[in-house]
Amino acid sequence: MNATMGLENVDHYPVMLDQILSIISPQHGGMFIDCTFGAGGYSKAILKYPNTEVIAIDRDKNSEKYAKEISTKHPSRFKFINTKFSNLEEMIKKNLEPKAIIFDLGFSSMQINDSKRGFSFQKKGPLDMRMGINNFSAKDVVNNMSESDLAQIIKNFGDEKEGKKIANKIINFRKKNLINTSEQLSLIVKSAKRKVFNSKINPSTKTFQALRIFVNKEISELKKGLDAATRILKDNGILIVVNFHSIEDKIIKSFFRFYSESKSVSRHIPIKEDNKKGILYNLTQKKIIRPKDKEIKENNRSRSAKLRFAIRTSNKFYYSNKTEELFKKYFEVESINI
Ligand SMILES: C[S@@+](CC[C@H](N)C(=O)[O-])C[C@H]1O[C@@H](n2cnc3c(N)ncnc32)[C@H](O)[C@@H]1O
Repeated sequence: MNATMGLENVDHYPVMLDQILSIISPQHGGMFIDCTFGAGGYSKAILKYPNTEVIAIDRDKNSEKYAKEISTKHPSRFKFINTKFSNLEEMIKKNLEPKAIIFDLGFSSMQINDSKRGFSFQKKGPLDMRMGINNFSAKDVVNNMSESDLAQIIKNFGDEKEGKKIANKIINFRKKNLINTSEQLSLIVKSAKRKVFNSKINPSTKTFQALRIFVNKEISELKKGLDAATRILKDNGILIVVNFHSIEDKIIKSFFRFYSESKSVSRHIPIKEDNKKGILYNLTQKKIIRPKDKEIKENNRSRSAKLRFAIRTSNKFYYSNKTEELFKKYFEVESINI
């Protein structure tokens, strides 16, 4: 069966669904956790197989509509929780034994296409960008933060070389007017940036990405989510992460590498605490998995997707702050107060 067949009319095209199903093999049954439910593409595909169960999570309340449809069809095999994946502790307490935990990071098509959500520089609407369960919006950020903090956010989370100039233009604009809409911000960014002829990338792409990451605390959410998933998974459980930008990819890669490398060292060298612990993951496939050309043609958004997965060993979980140390700058910028 080709899992993506018949997806022409879906609200969100589930990225690399075929590859995910072949990694988790739901045809053998089992319990699965879908940490980024969205419109439920993965959950639905898993539940098509008998003897499967899904617990799904999404921070966006709008996902409840899709979740209701599935619970009506599979009342005893499906449960949806409107929460963030940094709050997976409840599941840890329940001592579940999922066969796989799946993260499909970033925003959904419903979120980017809805002008009222403010994620897109191509739409006219309020500058918001909250996925759900947030403390502030993008409008709060651009109208309240200092010039240097704004520049840090745009430079680090957008990898935007012209972050300082953009921050300066934002500050000058807001001396006279509040920045209320995504269109206003997009015009401000455009006016700050050098013109690059023949560039296929919209000048606002990086600034919008940066604000979205900051508003939704995507870096710490990811780290907390990976830690929680690693605590929940038992022997042979699979952790799958699909990501869409280089910051996430660097963090996931280093997380997998750290917990999969053997930490045994020569008995003559004094060992650090972490070195005494066993490996938590086996990487059966070290290379990233990319969407097939056919999928990219059908769903252009999938072109930047990268899938990584790892298989849990039976060793006991131990926390490491290695990721926070390695990517200190991102964690520091994300914790700037507004
Ligand atoms: C790319 S979409 C997932 C689409 C889904 N796989 C499908 O097939 O419909 C990402 C979803 O993850 C949710 N999300 C992002 N960060 C989250 C977090 N920290 N906790 C819970 N949900 C999150 C977003 O609200 C969005 O609905």
